[in-house]
Amino acid sequence: VAHLLGIKYLKPSDIELIFKTADHFKEVINRPIKKVPSLRDITIANLFFENSTRTKLSFELAEKRLSADVINFSASQSSVKKGETLIDTVNNILSMKVDIVVMRHANVGAGVFLAKHVNAKIINAGDGTHEHPTQALLDSYSIREKLGTVKGKKIVIIGDILHSRVALSNIFALQMQGAEVKVCGPTTLIPKYITSLGVTVETNLKKALEWCDVANVLRVQNERMDINYFPSTREYTQLFGINKEILDNLDKKIVIMHPGPINRGVEITSDVADSEQSIILHQVENGVAIRMAVIYLLAEQIKR
Ligand code: CP
Repeated sequence: VAHLLGIKYLKPSDIELIFKTADHFKEVINRPIKKVPSLRDITIANLFFENSTRTKLSFELAEKRLSADVINFSASQSSVKKGETLIDTVNNILSMKVDIVVMRHANVGAGVFLAKHVNAKIINAGDGTHEHPTQALLDSYSIREKLGTVKGKKIVIIGDILHSRVALSNIFALQMQGAEVKVCGPTTLIPKYITSLGVTVETNLKKALEWCDVANVLRVQNERMDINYFPSTREYTQLFGINKEILDNLDKKIVIMHPGPINRGVEITSDVADSEQSIILHQVENGVAIRMAVIYLLAEQIKR
């Protein structure tokens, strides 16, 4: 593939290649010298039109571990605030001889739009409520690391599915690797089309947890919804919050994941997020190796 715009544009063999490449880079970043010189001739721009902690820092670190030159752009401190368009912004940055653009944007399809209009490799770092492909790749990679394989595993994605790009990319990635996927949450936060993707819906949290091997817990994205949305935060926590008591009453130890940022005490309690069942910080660690792999594989296609 020419760009990484979404998981839906990948084949299972693409994911396998990314994971094999990430295995190598994971070994590299655990060495005393965590860098390779592979991309000394490549320049990468990280354009963030929406806030980010993990994705932004992880991409920057991945690029630096590959020895690329890196420029960072944050829309809130830029001339976007003076009315400059996305295309003008990106073309001005590209005229500084940039090879790869990593972009997070609030609009669905922003990466696809950019790929059609500018001459650079585009990596989607999250486009609105649509896709977050590198998050889904690092999530599957972390399941594979913890359970040996993704194939045949039962994964439940819990929470605000409606506003989540993490959910959609995870559904595509997990199914492509042969996992069974269920979503669980309030019906107001589950889009109607979800069953057409081959996903089952469960509104009873206990039943969903009894079924699964892995629970991927999502944040309720209050910033993307009306303040009077049902359920309220308190109701959500009562019905769908993951706490230690619920997990201790299951007859097996399931794996707990969360893409971050966590709203502690809302969708997950601290004693669960910080427990030995949680692989949340392993997900973040694996994000660097996955992003190194994605960038390296795209850069291989650039004539140099
Ligand atoms: N998981 C994730 O995308 O986190 P950030 O919004 O902090 O990048």
